[in-house]
Amino acid sequence: MDSVLNKKRNIIISEEKIKSRIAKVGAEISKDYEGEEIYVLSLLRGSFIFTADLVRSITIPTIIGFMTTSSYGNGEESTGVVKVVNDIPDNIKGLNVLVVDDIVDSGITMEFVMNHVKKLGAKSVKCCSLLDKPERRKTEIKPDYCCFEIPDVFVVGYGLNYGDYYRNIPYVFNWEE
Ligand code: IMP
Ligand code: MG
Repeated sequence: MDSVLNKKRNIIISEEKIKSRIAKVGAEISKDYEGEEIYVLSLLRGSFIFTADLVRSITIPTIIGFMTTSSYGNGEESTGVVKVVNDIPDNIKGLNVLVVDDIVDSGITMEFVMNHVKKLGAKSVKCCSLLDKPERRKTEIKPDYCCFEIPDVFVVGYGLNYGDYYRNIPYVFNWEE
């Protein structure tokens, strides 16, 4: 972490932009599931801030549960193997599940979790991510709802980490070379 401390930050997505985009995506989700209820499955730790803001812009009945997977060490590249660290705490059989993550990168995490949810007998499974890096995809996953598409750059803030840090920063940024 020390190596980046003195580098200048580039704000990629500001707090204001995040806020207004989440309001729109929350409204879209509420409209699409009108008359139904959803189970928001938030993937820890990366999506905790995004989930907190997103669910407050959803107006239909919403249950919220958390699951922890790991595929990343502390670095920037996926190991490609997803492990369940903490499983879904509820019976999701027959529910409309919306899996929420901070970013869909290779798509390996999202594909794994969506398959897991299907196996548990959900009525429907869709996914929503704050960020999408389509250039990095190694799976067929395309987020059903996505706030921002970004190029292939490693970003942090608003839940996204580097090492153990930067999740608490309220905007998405990277460092100048
Ligand atoms: P995937 O399985 O490759 O799609 O990766 C999903 C996970 O990788 C996310 O939940 C993030 O924790 C992490 N990740 C991918 N790209 C970034 C990034 O640019 N910054 C921080 N974390 C990232
Ligand atoms: Mg992470």
